[in-house]
Formats: sequence, structure tokens, C-alpha cells
Amino acid sequence: VITRVCARQILDSRGAPAVEVDLHTNKAVHRASAAGPGAPEGAAVDATRDVEKRRLLAKAVADSVRLINGKVSEALVGMDPQQQAQIDQAIMDLDKAHHRTEVGANAMLAVSIAACKAGAAEKEVPLYKHIADLVGKSATTLPVPAITVINGGTHAGNNLPIQEIMILPIGAKNFEEAMQMGSETYHHLKDIIWEKYGSDSCNIGDDGGFAPNISSITEGLDLVIAAIDRAGYNGRIKLAIDAAATDFCVGKKYDLEFKSAKKSGQNFKTGDDMIEIYSQLCSEYPLVSIEQPFDKDDWEHSKKFTTLELCQVPIVLFIFYLLSGAHAIMHLQVVGDDLLMSDPERIKRAVNEYTCDALTLKASQVGTVTEAIEAVKQAKDAHWGVMVSHRSGDTDDSFIADLAVGAAAGQIKAGAPCRGECLTKYNQLLRIEEEFGSEGVYAGENWRTTAS
Ligand code: PGA
Repeated sequence: VITRVCARQILDSRGAPAVEVDLHTNKAVHRASAAGPGAPEGAAVDATRDVEKRRLLAKAVADSVRLINGKVSEALVGMDPQQQAQIDQAIMDLDKAHHRTEVGANAMLAVSIAACKAGAAEKEVPLYKHIADLVGKSATTLPVPAITVINGGTHAGNNLPIQEIMILPIGAKNFEEAMQMGSETYHHLKDIIWEKYGSDSCNIGDDGGFAPNISSITEGLDLVIAAIDRAGYNGRIKLAIDAAATDFCVGKKYDLEFKSAKKSGQNFKTGDDMIEIYSQLCSEYPLVSIEQPFDKDDWEHSKKFTTLELCQVPIVLFIFYLLSGAHAIMHLQVVGDDLLMSDPERIKRAVNEYTCDALTLKASQVGTVTEAIEAVKQAKDAHWGVMVSHRSGDTDDSFIADLAVGAAAGQIKAGAPCRGECLTKYNQLLRIEEEFGSEGVYAGENWRTTAS
């Protein structure tokens, strides 16, 4: 049984405060931490900071720590850690605010993950297996990694408006080979950037992607294509972008020069212009996934763009789509991040209005393991893809790797193949694959359709 829950403030990969929890049972201590909100924090709905106080630039989490050590610990003492749903309900009962603004979703999640780890230990099974039991399925599928190789947006100081360019080694035979392909491509990309722009352009952004001072999306994609080519993985690696367009939406327009001191005035785009830009990119590059192409509240263009994708499907496949609801027939996956905020109500609206067809699952936005699993189920029921995601300011907790396997998500986004907080997730997946042996299945071509 749970005997005590203790929290402390630690620092995340950006040097900002994060919550770490030690959950004591009568047998052992289980540690977990959860990332804080993303960048920029202004739009954050997912963490509680001690904003009135000036410590750590008003980002301290001491109030959350106090709540966990007091109210949360009292509520959980005596509970069986295997009963994840009851534990999560007890935590939720302490924070009834819609966006978890009292305890904070990040703080709640740290407790919930620590309990999940304790539950697995109590059952004497690996964490991913315990999660699969909670989902109600068996788990043997390793996700396709969406590996960040170029950073821009609010995650880097260059002039690239979009936040990330990622590579998806869909053609790998297993997860280990996927990481090898990702790592080799990453290193070739570094050489190419060095040769073209000089050594000081090889600095990296918040997710570990290179951040050369480029300003156009095509320039970034060309660099990545050249790296894939040099690594010899043409056709076996596909591309994805996270536009994170909420960050450059001004009024109802999109400012592609939002970080530039000198603006040409040529790059202030309407939603329709953005649709054209994305469609053009899709016709020129092997792009298979675009995350958050519009502002979080731009339901209109999100819908228009996703529907346009559906219209390009050949008639035979369209009939198959109508019969099966399987979105994966579409050439492109449109992923909702802040459009959805991992919030069941927003996911429901997006399913009904057809505004995207995949979920970025950020567990620290929902607050508990149970709700994260529910969000995966909700997305899978709609035949969506699911991309389990890290945060741009993250900790060394590798929980999302086990979550991606346990919930058979099919996709995981954990940054570049460098930096400790990213590799802790990818390395955990390498261990899990080793543990599976011949039982393990790499999602590969089925990255969008693995069933939870
Ligand atoms: P975040 O985004 O800044 O909200 O953590 C991370 C991501 O989308 O990769």
C-alpha cells in the first residue's frame, strides 16, 4: 500500500522548475517527474506556477509541492498502487478546475506516474505491461519515432517560423534500426549544415534539432532531404513538421517572419495562404505528417485543410474510408496539438468537425495516466493516429516510452537523438524491444493504424 507521497522541485531541460515525486509503499520508493508547460508559457493551461512570487522568474512550483506533500499524500495513503483508476480519481477530486489550475496538471501527473510505476512493481511486471493491462490489451508494438532534426519557432533563436522538422524511419525493420537511421541522418545533417553555413550554425534548439539561421521551410526540408540521401535512406525515411502555428498567429493571420527584426511585409499570410503553402510542401517533399498547421482556435482552416486532404483520395479508397473510417488512407496525417490540448471535449469536437486526424498526446496536459489512456482510446476509436509526445522543457523521466508501447500508440515524438531528456525515452524503447525479443513488432508502415 501507499504509505507516503513526497514532492520536490527539480529543474527541467530548460532550467525551469518541474515537479518530482517520491511515492513510498511499504515495499519500495517509486520516483517520477513531469515536464512543465511548453514554450511560450503564456498559452499554457497545463501547469501551476507560483506566479505571484518572484523566485525562479515566477516559475517556481513550491505551491504544488506543498499540496502534494499535504492534501494529495493524505488522500492516497493506504491505497493499493495497482488501482490506478481509483488513485487518479482521488487526485482529480482534489483539483476540480477544468484545466487543473489548483494542483496543476504537471504536478498531478508526477503523482499519477509514480503510482503507475508502483503498481507495476507491485504486480512484478514491466511498466509497459502494466499500462497495457490498464488499457485492456496486450502490448508488443514499438512506435515509430518522430525524431526532431531541425528546430525553429519558439524553440530556437533562428528565423525559421515552424517549430520542428522531424524524420520518421517508417521503412526500418525494427526500433533499433529506426534509431540507427535517425542518428546517422542527424549526424550527416550536422555535416551538411557545417559545410553550408559554418560551424556556428550547428547549435541546437530546445528539442535537440539543429537551428541554423534559415528562414524558409523549404530550405530546412532541403537540408534534411540531403542528409537522408547522404545517409543512404532515400524512400525509407519520411518527413514530418510541427508548425506550432499558434505561436505565429497574429489576429487571424500567420506571420512567417514573427521572429525577424526586419520584416519584409511579404510573409503575413491568411489561413487560405497557409493551406496553399502546406499543399505545395506536400506535393514537393515526402511529408507524411503536419502538426498544428493553424492557430489553436482556427477550427475553420483546420477543417478546410483536413477535408482537402480527404478530397485528394482516389474514389476506391474513399469508399473504403466511408466503410471503415480509417483515416490512414490519406496521404497526410494532420495532427492536433494545442487545437486539442489532449482535452476530451476538444477531441470530440475535432472528430465531429473533421479538423485533424491524429492526436498529440501530452500527458502533462491531461494530468493523470487514466485520462491519458482515455484520450488515446478516444482517438483510436475515431481511427486517428496517436503521437505520444514529450515536452520541449522535459525531465529525465522515461514514462512516455512505456506509455507509447502500453497504449500501442504507433508513434512517439521525443526530440532529437541527442540530449539526455530525449534519449532517456528512446533508450528505454531500445530496452523494451530487447525484452520483447522475437515477440516485438515495429509499427513501421502501420504507424497510424496500430490498435490500442
Ligand atoms: P511544448 O511542445 O513546447 O508544448 O512542450 C513540445 C512539442 O510539441 O514538441
